[in-house]
Formats: sequence, C-alpha cells, structure tokens
Amino acid sequence: MSAFGKSLTAVAAAAALVAVTGVGAASAQGPWAAPADAKKTTNPVKGIGNAKKSVETNCASCHGAGGRGDGPAAAALPPPKPANWTAEAVQKQTDGEIFWKISNGRGAMPPWKHLPEKERWELVNFIRSLKKK
Ligand code: HEC
Repeated sequence: MSAFGKSLTAVAAAAALVAVTGVGAASAQGPWAAPADAKKTTNPVKGIGNAKKSVETNCASCHGAGGRGDGPAAAALPPPKPANWTAEAVQKQTDGEIFWKISNGRGAMPPWKHLPEKERWELVNFIRSLKKK
C-alpha cells in the first residue's frame, strides 16, 4: 500500500476508534500526568536505533513525521489532539514520563507496550532529538 493509502487507513482507523469507544471524550480529560515512580525511571538506552522508521510506521499518521502533531489523522481526532513532541510541554518531562506515556497511551493515543522496551526508549531519544524551531 502507498504511504498515502496507509495514511488514509490510519485516518479511518482513528475516526472509527473515536466513534466506537468515545475515547477522546470520556477518558482523556485534563492534563495527562504519568505516575510519580514513572518519572524517576532512568533511560538505559543510548541512541535512536531504528526509531525514525518506527515513527513513520507507528506514529506519523497522528503526530506527523516531524512530530509536530500534524499527521493526516490529527484533523479527524477530537481534542486532546496528538501532542507536538517539540513543544516545551513534552520536552520538559523526564525520559521516564515520556516512556510511560508511550507504553500506556490515553484516549486516542494507543498504548505501545507491545513494542520492545529498547525500541520505546529509542522513541523517547528520538523525541528528545527534535529541537523546537
Ligand atoms: C491514533 C493517533 C496516535 C498515534 C498513532 C500515536 N499517538 Fe501519541 N498521542 C495521540 C494523542 C491524541 C495524544 C494526546 C493524548 C492526551 O493528551 O490525552 C498523544 C500523546 C502522545 C504523547 C504524550 C505527550 C504529552 O502530552 O505528554 C507522546 C509522548 C506520544 N503521543 C508518543 C507517541 C509515539 C511515540 C507514537 C508511536 C509509537 C504515537 N504517539 C502514536 C495520538 C496518537
């Protein structure tokens, strides 16, 4: 399937998810805080490995390839919208908090626990590598 086709599938999937479960409305209100112990988890992994590829496959439909929250599915989602990873609100969090959020998800943000831990830390490192411009 073309990248464009994939994006359309992601839009449809995101819209269906919201329609079926009402997620964005019921379960994702207010600021999203990771538990205190998650904040203290230290990052054991260096480098981004294949995170760029993983982002294209798993995250870009919502977050955009550059992580600015502007993926093709973002428009179809109700607030809270996919986060802009370059924003201060994301960058000020600890690696452990970001890792926990990627692992657990909330509302329209899927949990990514099925990805190997190393890959999730590499995603954290990738998010860190994005400078606010
Ligand atoms: C179906 C759309 C979708 C996909 C795919 C998706 N996300 Fe998200 N993501 C969201 C939404 C929506 C939020 C905001 C959730 C909230 O605030 O309740 C979010 C929030 C986040 C946050 C939290 C930022 C904060 O507010 O602290 C991180 C980190 C994140 N996503 C990383 C990822 C990563 C990494 C991937 C791929 C492995 C991914 N997301 C895939 C929709 C998505």
